[in-house]
Amino acid sequence: MGYEVSPLAGQSEFGAVITGLKPEMIDEPEIRQALYTLWIDKGVIVFRDLSGMDSHIRLSEIFGEPEVHPLLRNVDIPRENKLIIDIDTDASAVYIVDGKECVGWLAWHKDSMYTDKINHGGILAAIEVPEEGGETGFIDQVAAYNALPEDLKKRIEGLNVVYRFTIDSCGSKFGDKPDDRLSLPDVAKKMSDGFNKNLVRSIHPMVAVQPGTGRKFVNVSPWFADGIEGMENDEGNALLREVIAHNTRPERIYKHKYSANEMVLWDNWRMLHCAFGTPLGMKRHMRRTTLFGDYGQGRLEEATAAAE
Ligand SMILES: [Fe+2]
Repeated sequence: MGYEVSPLAGQSEFGAVITGLKPEMIDEPEIRQALYTLWIDKGVIVFRDLSGMDSHIRLSEIFGEPEVHPLLRNVDIPRENKLIIDIDTDASAVYIVDGKECVGWLAWHKDSMYTDKINHGGILAAIEVPEEGGETGFIDQVAAYNALPEDLKKRIEGLNVVYRFTIDSCGSKFGDKPDDRLSLPDVAKKMSDGFNKNLVRSIHPMVAVQPGTGRKFVNVSPWFADGIEGMENDEGNALLREVIAHNTRPERIYKHKYSANEMVLWDNWRMLHCAFGTPLGMKRHMRRTTLFGDYGQGRLEEATAAAE
């Protein structure tokens, strides 16, 4: 194909690294098909030595239609390209995590779980990389499902989780939390206010099936989770916490340290991700696209109520 594929360092169950993919190769049909198949198989692909907004958009189009991120649909923020979001330490929330001030920390989550249609993925492009920190964490939820104790698999089969949007994970009910928040930038407030105008809880199965492969994966986003449908009580909350504790065990975490001019694609249906944050005073600049998708297994609480 003209490029090299190698495993992601230290990972046997997911992930691939591609080197030597030139921008002009992105449009070749055979390469597009091979990259899509690799993505579904591996969940995360790191593209080394690839840069530029044009390559970023064209690469994204292989894996799904780039869409405006749900949080930005009702917000007017000047951007060079509406399909690309800048993620910059100059405009990110400041938190205290494990006693240290850091910028851009995000709890374990799946994007858009607070809507009925979870986007299929995204591509993060590293523009400016800090000397310390700034990593993205990934956890494979196919491997996490396979490793669940059999009795726990039985207890969660057929259950659904209800989600509610919150911009501030200090208030997260089930997810990992920072010690405190020191600031929230205006852009985050605008995103939060714009989205919350139309807030309806979403509902997703706790175990989902990967379209095209039939593999089961745990489908729980710790950040945004509000409870188990029909079990929003101590028993249900304890079960949800037990599942999350299994899925986010330290040995399951892959921490990606970026190089400049690198793009990282992930499957948002299959992978949990988080941002470990950047030490205060250091600069990190990323750009990301969001890939439209609907796995067809989510719904809105309002629509469910109306149908009853
Ligand atoms: Fe995210």
